[in-house]
Amino acid sequence: MLVSWLMGTSTTLERDVRAFLATALESTNLQNLGSRYVGKVRDVYSQGERSILVATDRQSAFDISWCSVPLKGQVLNQVSAWWFKQVAEIMPSHVIDVPDENATVVRRLDMLKVEIVVRAYLAGSTSTSAWVNYSQGVRSFCGNTLPEGLAKNQRLPSGPILTPTTKGEHDELIAPSEIVARGFATQAQWDEISEKALALFGHGQEIAAARGLILVDTKYEMGFDKAGTLTLADEVHTPDSSRYWIASSYEQRLALGLEPESLDKEFFRLWLREQGFEYGGPKPQITDEVRVMLAMKYIDLHERMTGERFVVPKDPDISARLQRNLREYQVS
Ligand SMILES: Nc1ncnc2c1ncn2[C@@H]1O[C@H](COP(=O)(O)OP(=O)(O)O)[C@@H](O)[C@H]1O
Ligand SMILES: [Mg+2]
Repeated sequence: MLVSWLMGTSTTLERDVRAFLATALESTNLQNLGSRYVGKVRDVYSQGERSILVATDRQSAFDISWCSVPLKGQVLNQVSAWWFKQVAEIMPSHVIDVPDENATVVRRLDMLKVEIVVRAYLAGSTSTSAWVNYSQGVRSFCGNTLPEGLAKNQRLPSGPILTPTTKGEHDELIAPSEIVARGFATQAQWDEISEKALALFGHGQEIAAARGLILVDTKYEMGFDKAGTLTLADEVHTPDSSRYWIASSYEQRLALGLEPESLDKEFFRLWLREQGFEYGGPKPQITDEVRVMLAMKYIDLHERMTGERFVVPKDPDISARLQRNLREYQVS
């Protein structure tokens, strides 16, 4: 698939994806499913102890919502559901049911006020990314000191590090001592959170490696259930919450000073930068060609990661399908 795309030929899959350009899920207005909260990517319908996370096709980057990418919500929801199963032995997750390609029914948790970022490489292009900070002279990251002389996209010699950020409009790095001082978690809770995050990441790296992929970094969200049990929430190891590189070309491209081949959101961030985008500046036009190209990247990641064929739905009306598949979760 990737090869034919590079050669400029159109595959059946690509044609099927194009059919969803017009009906990509920009927003939802589902009936009788509870109160709706609109996140950057998900619409969350809450009904007491239960929430329904609907992954839309919205594409955000640099904290801006840019466009919709056909079938991206399905990729996110299905990849996340697959990973929740893979890591179930490490910790419980919020998943109750996955009744639709784009929706997951979850236990509503008391969410941690920080996002747990784990990084194994010096990567990134946003203001909180390890590389941008390192290149500006920062050597201390949330209690981890990095050595001099590291190159962009190099693997961290110390192994994976935790660089938590606050959850808000704009994420900011926060040291573990600050997390405890500000009452976001007790020391004992933070110890458990960090231990679990590193275990999840280690397992994620192993599984990714077996599929020819490098899990570069990721962001976890966790919360506590009614019994006070630490539980994995939101999404896990998706191409929105993680960076993925293709393993086979990594070393050679690093040596040549080229960006790794990426199958995640970073691809879109780099594309925006190439168009000259800067924070606060004019926004480049996102054409349908770019939307399809992004969709093919997401689908490629889905197929490589899960080892399963991505099934393009027959019905282009995603909203109607959601409403049908969520019937048993209606509250009125
Ligand atoms: N089990 C859960 N309980 C409560 N909130 C959750 C749970 N899982 C995810 N969330 C929250 O639902 C929202 C998902 O929407 P999303 O578009 O990802 O939001 P954001 O704009 O914060 O990235 C996030 O605010 C996330 O923290
Ligand atoms: Mg999110």
